Amino acid sequence: MPQLKPTTLTTERLTLRWLTADDAAAQFALFSDPEVMRYWSSAPWTDLAQARAAIEQVLAEYRDGTSLRFAITLRDGGAMIGNIRLYDFFDQNRRCDIGYALVQAHWGQGYLAEAMAAVLDYGFAELNLNRVEADIDPRNAASQKLLERMSFEPEGYMRERWIVNGEVCDTEFYGLLKSDWEAR
Ligand SMILES: CC(C)(COP(=O)(O)OP(=O)(O)OC[C@H]1O[C@@H](n2cnc3c(N)ncnc32)[C@H](O)[C@@H]1OP(=O)(O)O)[C@@H](O)C(=O)NCCC(=O)NCCS
Repeated sequence: MPQLKPTTLTTERLTLRWLTADDAAAQFALFSDPEVMRYWSSAPWTDLAQARAAIEQVLAEYRDGTSLRFAITLRDGGAMIGNIRLYDFFDQNRRCDIGYALVQAHWGQGYLAEAMAAVLDYGFAELNLNRVEADIDPRNAASQKLLERMSFEPEGYMRERWIVNGEVCDTEFYGLLKSDWEAR
């Protein structure tokens, strides 16, 4: 598990920072939207209390180093517009998983690609990762294109890996090596 210290990453249009309890309303808006949650591994949230509890969990994970979630905000200010998260750190193999979501109003403008590039730079350089993995629903075309744009390789297909709200879903598994990232 890495020792995490409060970090802010800045890109051309975005600021990525650690979440705080004040992000609960924006976190709820993000994870209660059925469109955002269409291919997620759990159902949309229905209660602000879920956001508050999730943020408590995020804060605990900063402390114990099990997961690192960034709030994505526009550089010119305003509420959080998305999350990007590195989790399931595996020290010996220097790898982790990545997850991400953006509010619908900001889809299709390259924001996630911009945020992910900064987080991958940080993960490979500062957290000494060698490999980052992503598990996506193969029907999630936006997520698929995003990963491929970031040089992730499709590495396998797993059938009926998730059952979300009674819906059985497959996994397409992607991987990115530090050497892939450096060779881009
Ligand atoms: C996946 C998601 C984060 C993409 O964010 P985004 O900021 O819109 O992505 P970008 O604008 O950086 O686009 C990345 C690529 O996906 C493409 N794309 C975006 N939306 C798309 C869509 N609906 N269908 C097909 N391709 C799409 C873009 O054209 C771009 O490809 P390009 O580089 O070849 O032009 C966003 O759609 C989202 O939050 N979805 C809901 C949550 C989710 O599914 N998360 C992933 C779970 S594994």
